[in-house]
Formats: sequence, structure tokens, C-alpha cells
Amino acid sequence: MSTNTESWGSRVGLVLAMAGNAVGLGNFLRFPVQAIENGGGAFIIPYLVCFLLMGIPLLFVEWSMGRFGGQHGHHSTPFIVGSMAPNGRLWKYVGVFGIFTNLAVAAYYCYIESWTMSYVYHTIVGSFNGSTQASVAQFFTDYTDIGVSHTGIPYEPVVFYVLCLLLNTWILSRGLSGGVEAVAKIGMPLLIIFGIFLAIRGITLTAGTDGAVNDGTVGLNFLWNPQFDSIWNAKVWLAAAGQIFFTLSVGMGSIHCYASYLRSRDDVALNAMGAGWTNEFVEVVLGGAIVIPITVGYLGIDGVREIVASGGGFGLGFQTLPYLFQQWGPILGTLSGVMWFGLLFFAGITSSLAMGTPIMGFLQDEFGWKREKSAWTFGLAVLILGLPTVIFYQEGVFGEYDYWAGTVSLVVFALLEIILFAWVFGMKRGWDEINRGADIQVPSAFKFIIQYITPLFLLAVFVFSLPDIINKLTSEQPMAVHLSRLLLLALFVGIAYLVRVAYYKRLREGRHIIKNI
Ligand code: TRP
Ligand code: TRP
Repeated sequence: MSTNTESWGSRVGLVLAMAGNAVGLGNFLRFPVQAIENGGGAFIIPYLVCFLLMGIPLLFVEWSMGRFGGQHGHHSTPFIVGSMAPNGRLWKYVGVFGIFTNLAVAAYYCYIESWTMSYVYHTIVGSFNGSTQASVAQFFTDYTDIGVSHTGIPYEPVVFYVLCLLLNTWILSRGLSGGVEAVAKIGMPLLIIFGIFLAIRGITLTAGTDGAVNDGTVGLNFLWNPQFDSIWNAKVWLAAAGQIFFTLSVGMGSIHCYASYLRSRDDVALNAMGAGWTNEFVEVVLGGAIVIPITVGYLGIDGVREIVASGGGFGLGFQTLPYLFQQWGPILGTLSGVMWFGLLFFAGITSSLAMGTPIMGFLQDEFGWKREKSAWTFGLAVLILGLPTVIFYQEGVFGEYDYWAGTVSLVVFALLEIILFAWVFGMKRGWDEINRGADIQVPSAFKFIIQYITPLFLLAVFVFSLPDIINKLTSEQPMAVHLSRLLLLALFVGIAYLVRVAYYKRLREGRHIIKNI
């Protein structure tokens, strides 16, 4: 009865789509900011350790879970998770995270994505020409304050947000190979070309030309000179772990969903590594060579630290860079601006599409809905959830979504899923899943790492985050923040309810969640 019979068109398309899922706004906006906030070279060591001990193992686990679930007709985490445990009745609720996160993150993520569309437009029409650093910064502040129009388009942020959602929904409604894969095949190469262009500009920036005060290498040194002093600082480790999760798209359910459209003997090991390492290349090589070298080149490390501390995370990408590009003259400046925001747009859309597929997979599998209907339902749900982040951006609603859905949920889900994989499903069977059809020999050390190290590491991350979580919950907050928490909670409960309905529907129809186990 499922209408869900999609699959990937080609292996290249699959890897590009998976890399597109991982490569996102996180690589270009979040990573540099995290690195600056956490001491540059002091951040990079915990970051790389987290990649090896949590990122890679979780990639193997999620790709094989997804392919396993797909064999049994499941394309979203509740029933993928449920089908791997003898007690699937309970475990399926763990999978609720894998739908919740995607919906709630899509809500605010598409808002950033819509800024990039609007900033491409404003770069082309010349809104930043001849402005000062302060006025470019003010532009962003005005933009996110939807009350008054400062740019000529009434309710501009809402208009671009809706446009962005319409575009995402339309692409999703065209399906995996005709929509998602097609966009990844165009968007990923363009993104890499734009990224290489801007990275070369960043690295070759020379003090004394175009008003720069530092060479581009000053910023690079800041990021890459290993510093061992903050290795014992829990905050740096938590930031590094959070960034690894966010950037690789692990702990979210979107990898499971993409992998569920593989065939049973398709390779997962090499594909997972291909997509994962591509993401790391784009993050540390390209993502690390644009924002930091250019802003440090003009403002010095302390100047950049100050902007990050005062303006929040988006200061550098949206408030500082559009101004700095102008120092390169009208033609190169406009070109760089279009490339920068164009790059962000492609990075964003290939990730937001990945957030749509688990919801669509769920609706198609469980309720027999058509692809189009599922896509438009996703679009509408994101609109409803997202408008509060647009309208109450400055009250901190955006940050709330990012904290609960984009940070805490990922760790909780990852911890539970790795326990499921290594201890309930069983490491022996799990290892066979990872290696079935594999085009590479996975080092056997990963068997031990997945079974012991990664779960303990995740547990530690969770335990060390608890004080911050408690502190958030008990500190005083504006009304809008309280309401947004209620909304997120309602969303979680609502999805759990749908999963329950779907489960009883399966029982009535004699389709059990556990097959061939
Ligand atoms: N990895 C993406 C980035 O770096 C974000 C992302 C992709 C994501 N898919 C997701 C976040 C699913 C949450 C849920 O920007
Ligand atoms: N860079 C900011 C931060 O680290 C803002 C941010 C939060 C962000 N979530 C994001 C940027 C997701 C890109 C993608 O807090």
C-alpha cells in the first residue's frame, strides 16, 4: 500500500545528495564562528577528535540503519528504529526525534536560507554600494525587524521566507532523482567553484592592498596553530561535538532517510566516507579559508572576536563580509558578493531538502499519501513552525529552536540510536550490516569504537551539557521564548501521536514493524 517506491538515479547523484545534505550553512557560517569563539587553534583539536570518534562511527551506523530500514519498507526513523529492536513498540518513539528535529530545524534553517536569497538580490541591485560598515550591519538588524520596511519591499523577510519555502516544496514534490538529486548535481559543483574562488581571495589577501591590514595567512594561522591550553575546557569540547553533529547531519534522521532508498547490496561504507570527508573538506578547507582570513585581514583577530561577541553568530557573514567585498572594487566586489550568498544558498537548499524527505517518507509509508501531497504538507508545517522564528527573531525564538532542536536533540537521539545499534540490534549483526556490499575494508578498530567509545563519549557529552540545559530552563526568559518551547513540545507530542496511529494502522492491516528479524 505504500506509494513510496522511489530510489536514487545514480551513485554520483547519491553521494552528491548526501554531501549536499551535510554541506550546509553550518559549514560556512557556524563553523568559523564556533572556531573564533573557542580559541581558533584550541578548537580544532577537539573538533578533529570528535570527528574521528563520534562523526565517522555515527555515519557508518546511520547509513547502515537507513539501508536496513529501507529493505523493510521504512523510510523514516520511527519505524527504522522500531524494526531493529525486539521491543520495537517502545523503540519506535525514540525515532520521533528523527522527524521532530528535521521539522523544527527546517523552520529556522529556511529562514537563514531566505536571507541568502535576499542578499543575492540586494548585492545585484547594489543595496550595499557605497555604504559604511555600520550601515551594512544596520541593514541586517533592520531586516530582521519585520515591523517596518527598510528596503522597499513590505514585510521583506516574510516574503523571501515564503518564496524560499515554495521553492523547497516544489523541488521536493518532484521526487528524489528528479528533484533533490538534480539540485545537488548543479548546486554542489557550483558551490565548490564559488568556494574555491573566495578561499583563494581569502588566502592571498595582502596587507596594504585594498585597505587590508593583515595578510590572509594571519587568520589561517589563528585557526590552524594548535593550542593545547583549552583541551581541558569542557565548553570547548561541547562546542566541538555540537559542530560535528550539526555539520555532518548526524543524530537527525536525515541520513537514515536518504540511505533507506539504497538497495540491499549497495555499498554504505565507502559512500558514507565519501560524503563525510567531502563535508570535512568543505568545512575546514573552504569554510575555514573564507570568513576568518577575510575578516581578520581587515579587522584583526580582536576586532573579529568583538563582532562575534556582540553581534551573535551571523554578524560576520551578513554584516561584515558584504561591506568588505566592496573594498575590492565594484566589479569584483559585486561578483564576490553574489558568489558568497549564492554559495550559501546552494549549501542551504541541499540541506533543507534533506530535512523534508524524512517527513515525506513517513507520510508516504504510513498513510499512503502521494509525493506531492506529502511535500506540500511539509511546506505548510514548516511555514507554521517557522513564522514565529521570523516574526520574533529578535526576541530569541530562533535561538530557542536552534538550541533544543538543532543541538540538544541531536545528542540525545545519537546516544539512543548507538545503544540500539551496538547493544540491542547487536554489534555482530551491526558490523555485518556495515560491511555488506562494502567497497572498502572498514578498519576493525571501528567495531570497538562503535560499541564502547562512541556511546561513552556521547554519554559524557550529554552529562556535561546537563548544567547548561538546566540553567536554560530555570533562567528568566521572555514570553515569546516560553511559547516557542511549548510549541516545540507540542510538535514532539503530536508526532509521537501520529507514530502511534501509524502503528495501530499497521497492526490492523497485518503489516508489522518487525520483519525477517
Ligand atoms: N548539516 C547541515 C549543515 O551543516 C544541516 C542539516 C542538514 C540538518 N540536514 C539536517 C540539520 C537535518 C538538522 C536536520 O548546515
Ligand atoms: N553561527 C551562529 C551560532 O553558532 C548561528 C547559527 C546557529 C547557525 N545555528 C546555525 C548558522 C545553523 C548556520 C546554521 O550560534
